[in-house]
Amino acid sequence: MQLGMYLAGLIEERRKNPGDDMLSQLATAKGQDGPMTTMELLSTAALLLIAGHETTVNLITNGMLTLLRNPDVLQRLRNEPRLAVPLVEELLRYEPPVQLLPQRTTLADIEVRGVTIPKGATLWLVLASGNRDPRRFENPDRFDPDRQDIQHLGLGSGIHSCFGAPLARLEAQLALSELARRLENPRLLDDPPPYRRNAVLRGPRRLRIACDGIRA
Ligand code: HEM
Repeated sequence: MQLGMYLAGLIEERRKNPGDDMLSQLATAKGQDGPMTTMELLSTAALLLIAGHETTVNLITNGMLTLLRNPDVLQRLRNEPRLAVPLVEELLRYEPPVQLLPQRTTLADIEVRGVTIPKGATLWLVLASGNRDPRRFENPDRFDPDRQDIQHLGLGSGIHSCFGAPLARLEAQLALSELARRLENPRLLDDPPPYRRNAVLRGPRRLRIACDGIRA
């Protein structure tokens, strides 16, 4: 079944029998401009699914790949679970799941370092490149969870900054801490692993890991 048809059915179902989930609340909300139309609900639901799922899957997979390439940091995470908080911030800088934003248009002439970008120009914002800018970050190609200056672009910024950032951070912190704690002697079977063919959303298609056991 196509995503649109599936979501349309779910929206109708939630309108008739609302539960305490987000879609029910969106479907029954009486906002200041009145209830959302079916098209508005469909595009919002699709945005949340795409923006909220593949991105987080990639953050966790990019995270495990980076930890297996930095076994000293993996060991630290086992010993200090609270390291998960700064570690996930550094991951969002170092291996951002959203590499670029290809849909910006200038509303006026903008000057950037002496270069004028004319009004109406189409911009691709390459967040991943900004996150590795040596004029902004010391040793940008080094993965360092102790990095103090960690204001990255991984979750966007300004009026469109990520709506789901708290959830994404929490999911990645919990998943990576648990993987570190439970997998005994994990090691990569493919390095580099095969990647999804997607320039915007970066992450491995699969990450094969061998281990000696799984702790309870
Ligand atoms: C690791 C996971 C995630 C990453 C890396 C990520 C990244 C981003 C980025 C870079 C933007 C800015 C887009 C722009 O400026 O056009 C954004 C916006 C957004 N994100 Fe996330 N996101 C993640 C998880 C989530 C989750 C879990 C949700 C929802 C449950 C979510 C919902 C949204 C929405 C609705 C927007 C649009 C905000 C707006 O336009 O005002 N994201 N995200």
